[in-house]
Amino acid sequence: MNIVWHHHKVTREMRSSQKKQKPCLLWFTGLSGSGKSTIANAVDEHLFETGHHTYVLDGDNVRHRLNQDLGFSDEDRVENIRRIGEVSNLFVDSGLIVLSAFISPFTSERRMVREMLPDGEFIEIFIDTPLEVCEQRDPKGLYKKARKGEIKNFTGIDSAYEKPENPELVINTSELSLSECARKVVEYLGERGIIESCKP
Ligand code: ADX
Repeated sequence: MNIVWHHHKVTREMRSSQKKQKPCLLWFTGLSGSGKSTIANAVDEHLFETGHHTYVLDGDNVRHRLNQDLGFSDEDRVENIRRIGEVSNLFVDSGLIVLSAFISPFTSERRMVREMLPDGEFIEIFIDTPLEVCEQRDPKGLYKKARKGEIKNFTGIDSAYEKPENPELVINTSELSLSECARKVVEYLGERGIIESCKP
C-alpha cells in the first residue's frame, strides 16, 4: 500500500484544550426502544447548553445514509458498528464529545470500537431496559411486526443481545425518569473530569 500516514500539526491535545473538554466517545448500547437515542439527546442538550462541543450519531439516522447498504444480519451489524466506530473515532480525534446510540448487540464489536480509541476515551453506557418494557413501549411498532414474523433477525426476538459485562455506566430506565438518566451520565462525566460543570 503506497499510502503514508500524515501527521497533523494541530494535535488532539491542542484541540482538547481549546474546547476545554476531554474528548471521548459515549457509547450507548441497549435494545431497540430502550431509550438510547432519547437519553443521548438529553445529555447532548445539556452539554451543548453548558458550552461543550458534541455530536450525536444514531442508528436510525446513520442507516439512512452512510450505512444504507447494510441490513440486520450478524455480518452487517458488525460492519455497521465498525464504520460507526471509525467515524466516532475521527470525531473524537477532532476534540468532540461524541454520543453514539446503536443497539450494538455483540460484545466483540463493542470491544473492537473500545480498542480503536485511546485508553479511557471509550465510555460504554448500558441502557438497561428489559425486553418486556421495550416491547410494551414499541414506539415504532417493530416488535409487533417481529412477533408476527414480518421482520426477521429482530434483536431480542430472533437475534441475540449480549449484555455488557463491564460497562462504565448502567442506566436503569425503569427506575429513573429521563432527566434523572441524563443527570447520571452528566455527573459521571464531571466525576471523570471530562467536563467541569456537572449540574444538569
Ligand atoms: S445495530 O444492531 O446494527 O447496532 P442499529 O442501532 O444500527 O442496530 O439500528 C437499530 C434500529 O433499526 C432499531 O432501533 C430499529 O428501529 C431498526 N430495525 C429495523 N430492523 C431491525 C432488526 N431486525 N433488529 C433491530 N433493529 C431493527
